[in-house]
Amino acid sequence: MSKLWGGRFAKETHALVDEYCSSLAIDTRLALQDIEGSLAHAEMLGKTGILPKTEVEQIITALGEISTQVRLGKINWDPSAEDVHSEIERLLREKCGPIAGKLHTARSRNDQVLTDTKLYLKQTGAELLAELKETKSSLVAIAEKNVNTILPGLTHTQHAQPVSLAHHFLAYFWMFDRDAGRLVDLLKRADECPLGAAALAGTSFPIDRHQTAAKLGFAKPTENSLDTVSDRDFLIEFLSFSSILMMHLSRIAEELVWWSTPEFNYVTLDDSVTTGSSIMPQKKNPDVAELIRGKVGRVYGALMGSLTMMKALPLSYNRDLQEDKQYLFEAMDLSLSSLKVMRLMLDTAVFNHARMESSLAGDFSNATDLADDLVKKGLPFRDAHEVSGKVVRYCLETGKYMENLTLDELKPFSPLFDQTSLTVLPHLAVMQARSSFGATGSKQVIQQIERAKKNI
Ligand code: ARG
Repeated sequence: MSKLWGGRFAKETHALVDEYCSSLAIDTRLALQDIEGSLAHAEMLGKTGILPKTEVEQIITALGEISTQVRLGKINWDPSAEDVHSEIERLLREKCGPIAGKLHTARSRNDQVLTDTKLYLKQTGAELLAELKETKSSLVAIAEKNVNTILPGLTHTQHAQPVSLAHHFLAYFWMFDRDAGRLVDLLKRADECPLGAAALAGTSFPIDRHQTAAKLGFAKPTENSLDTVSDRDFLIEFLSFSSILMMHLSRIAEELVWWSTPEFNYVTLDDSVTTGSSIMPQKKNPDVAELIRGKVGRVYGALMGSLTMMKALPLSYNRDLQEDKQYLFEAMDLSLSSLKVMRLMLDTAVFNHARMESSLAGDFSNATDLADDLVKKGLPFRDAHEVSGKVVRYCLETGKYMENLTLDELKPFSPLFDQTSLTVLPHLAVMQARSSFGATGSKQVIQQIERAKKNI
């Protein structure tokens, strides 16, 4: 196939080299963005008088036709082509002959590919942001139904203090809120148009970079042509965001895996989001949750891969940078699909309230409150801690539940114990007592839900 750069070469490139260097299999996904960028560039070339209006019109019409063909999936990409940019130029040449060659005036593939990539990131990033919002809504919906659903809150995977299921899922709400914030923030920084930086140094043609930037919906053109063609910060920022998002998803996924075991039995995942076994007829497996957990590695891999790709790379464009898109697409696809399937699981999950509550029985997650009771009666917390610890030991030795103790049983441990000491012990009371800002008590959780809803 004919190259965009054949002139100075006396020999054809080896077929293996063509194959090795081609990014077509990856970057045809940028075809529409490539055309969008070319349309803006062509229009600007016309307006600035760099190209005659009639030629620009021909190019624009042909690009429009190619765009339709791309949308309809009607393009036969030449598998031996170098990349999507050369392919679209070939298709353009088929339609309008040698004039097609004028489109590349004052442009390089180096600024072109970045323009395409950033357009893709802006467009798909908006989709991802909408998906994050849906996930946040699903979490709020669960929270609203479970303000009074109580379950053990854990530290070190050990029962610590009871919390509400609403509070538990709102914890994830705020994680996804920070993720959304990171995405908005990185998209803002990425909102600078690379087009016109050309190969590395800009161009001698009187182009109007502000015009192309505005046309393509960017806030402004990038500042420095060298930085522009060698910068992949926006991509690494996206992969960092995506890694953190997937890490968050993996944490819910892990809990859903555990919670759906018979030992926990906190949740029943819907049949529509679980799978069976080819040998064991009884099985219903949380494969979706497991795969979210498993796929995180691919996104972390993309982040590590791109950081490694960039390490010590001298200015400006180097072909290494072509590897970037695979990482971006992988992380984008996995972020979107993982959010979607997580939402399916959350929206259809049935929580076993009775089981959550009964798992609190005799777990001593009320021991802090017994100590707090003494503190409120004047005992220093350290001493109260010691007393409550001794009561725990007494219960362990006698097989008793702290919440069932009588005042007669408590009195020998401290003269400060009285009737009110018994009222702090039920787990629901323990949960409700937590009334500080951001705490698990229902009054606070209801306010937290209000803030979450406002946030959405
Ligand atoms: N396919 C290339 C990429 O993705 C386009 C830029 C090629 N530039 C070059 N100087 N060979 O990076």
